[in-house]
Amino acid sequence: MKFFIDSADVKEIRAAHAMGCVDGVTTNPSLLAKVGRGLEETIREICSIVDGPVSAEAVSMTAEELVKEGRTLAKLHPNVVVKVPMGVEGMKATKALTAEGIKTNVTLVFSPNQALLCAKAGATFVSPFVGRLDDVSEDGMEMVRQVLTIYRAYGYKTQVLVASVRNPVHVLRAAMMGADVATIPLSVIQQLAQHPLTDAGIKKFLADWEKVPKPK
Ligand code: E4P
Repeated sequence: MKFFIDSADVKEIRAAHAMGCVDGVTTNPSLLAKVGRGLEETIREICSIVDGPVSAEAVSMTAEELVKEGRTLAKLHPNVVVKVPMGVEGMKATKALTAEGIKTNVTLVFSPNQALLCAKAGATFVSPFVGRLDDVSEDGMEMVRQVLTIYRAYGYKTQVLVASVRNPVHVLRAAMMGADVATIPLSVIQQLAQHPLTDAGIKKFLADWEKVPKPK
């Protein structure tokens, strides 16, 4: 499974990249607002750090405008993937951008039928939002399982990018299901490295090392 980092903060992206686990990056307007930097300069800097797909979100409301915005975003760097919002206009834009060879990531996907439309429109990635479904008492990962079942049954090429990941269990379940990608916040990536028995083991080894005779 590929790991993308879900962040617009270049410090976080550099930190995860240094761990050797970053295959790509996803951003969105909320993540950009959090760091208080413009989209273009942020995306360019991210592309200079990570050599993989970098999603930049288009925010227009009509297919025509989304396509225009998508073309502009795609010119920022060859690794840019245009994030298109789910919906009728988003599907039309996805089809048109795909026809022009521009990669797309359909965002805000909350049902298998939405994901089915994304595959038919030729999206490069589909982003089912698991955490936000869990927040409203649905099972986000069950939705991912359904999407994977449908895509495998028909051989769709669209990659399933598990988004709105909130904890290590989401990552584990995504990997067990064979999702193509999970986009993960830095805090969760760091959690994946941790285990109380690892900490206890290190503590014990360090204590015992003190008892080992050293050369004088
Ligand atoms: C990724 O592409 C999404 O923008 C992101 O995972 C959303 O996560 P959130 O639901 O935690 O905001």
